[in-house]
Amino acid sequence: MTERTSISLSKLASTTLVESKPNHTISNMEATVEYSEREKEVKQFEDSKAGVKGLVDSGITKIPRIFIHPPDDFKVSPSFEVPLIDLQGIDGGRERRKEIVEGITGAAETWGFFKIINHGIPINILEEILQGVRRFHEQPHEYKKGWYSKDFSRPAIYYSNGDLKASTPTDWRDSFTCRFKQNHENFDALPHVCREEIEEFFKRMSSVRDMISEVLSEALGLRSDYLTSIGCLKSASILGHYYPICPEPDLTIGATKHSDMSFLTLLLQDNQGGLQVDHQNHWVNVPPVKGALVVNMGDFMQIISNDKFKSVEHRVLATRATEPRISVATFFGAANNDLQFGPIKELLSDENPPINRDTTFGEYVTYYRSKDKRVYGNSALPHLKINK
Ligand code: OGA
Ligand code: NI
Repeated sequence: MTERTSISLSKLASTTLVESKPNHTISNMEATVEYSEREKEVKQFEDSKAGVKGLVDSGITKIPRIFIHPPDDFKVSPSFEVPLIDLQGIDGGRERRKEIVEGITGAAETWGFFKIINHGIPINILEEILQGVRRFHEQPHEYKKGWYSKDFSRPAIYYSNGDLKASTPTDWRDSFTCRFKQNHENFDALPHVCREEIEEFFKRMSSVRDMISEVLSEALGLRSDYLTSIGCLKSASILGHYYPICPEPDLTIGATKHSDMSFLTLLLQDNQGGLQVDHQNHWVNVPPVKGALVVNMGDFMQIISNDKFKSVEHRVLATRATEPRISVATFFGAANNDLQFGPIKELLSDENPPINRDTTFGEYVTYYRSKDKRVYGNSALPHLKINK
């Protein structure tokens, strides 16, 4: 890390000493001053290009105030468990397949989340991508800062907090992301430290996608190739997240509660835990299972399934352990942000009228990002409801 970076980061860290008072006791004037201070701190953080990891490396023992999150009122429920689906025998016979399709249908309808095992990806491939992502984030700042960008049209970038702004608390997480279109993959633009791992992982995730795509089509009562035929899973964004060790994990969050905007997400988490999903207004832990992947429905899957499948909010706690947490999320979506999607016509009837209106991914993301004071962490789905 350069001297300049560490100086600006330690200045940022010292701002936590300024106590922030509860909102109702501060005057407009004070609030404005506090806001502009926060803006400065956010800018300083962004300009460092060093991410949250840079802060940790600078030796802070208190988190800067831009990372402080308000507590939420959900309780953690120990009695619920995200369904685990064993894919063994999925192509082995009608009875077994029917069983798997039923399991996934129930999970996608009631949880929006499930874990899969026996998906055909060897454990060493999963371990290698986790190590590759870790290697990327743990490169010297001098190398890594060249990748820091918020230009999501670039083939590969790294950043901290895609939607960084003074009005919402910052997450304790850095991310690397790259994007692929089916049949137009270009791996040359990837960083050397994890290129081979990402290439292999992308191919493996694509085969899991094909399997899940068939099952979800069948779960909707459609031909197995239906979701493939409408092109809604043709592009993939791979996000390699790095959740640095946090000195005050109770004050912040690794990933703010959100639903995924994708059609389908496949998630690989390391062995630390910290992922929680909202189930009946309770947080339910999604503990890691060796070799398993987490599958979840995104907002667009909820839209096209006419709310049969649920895109459920989830979050990640800040890392309490002595090791950073690594996860790799693969988001599948359409090849083009201008393609319109709405409720699948075959699913609609007088009894099942369309719930959401058609939209494009581009329009949806623009709306999501522009919500000025968006209800903190909430999804943009209600915006599309036909009968609000
Ligand atoms: C995401 C996400 C969870 C995790 O990337 O959208 O929810 O465990 N990630 O990192
Ligand atoms: Ni998510």
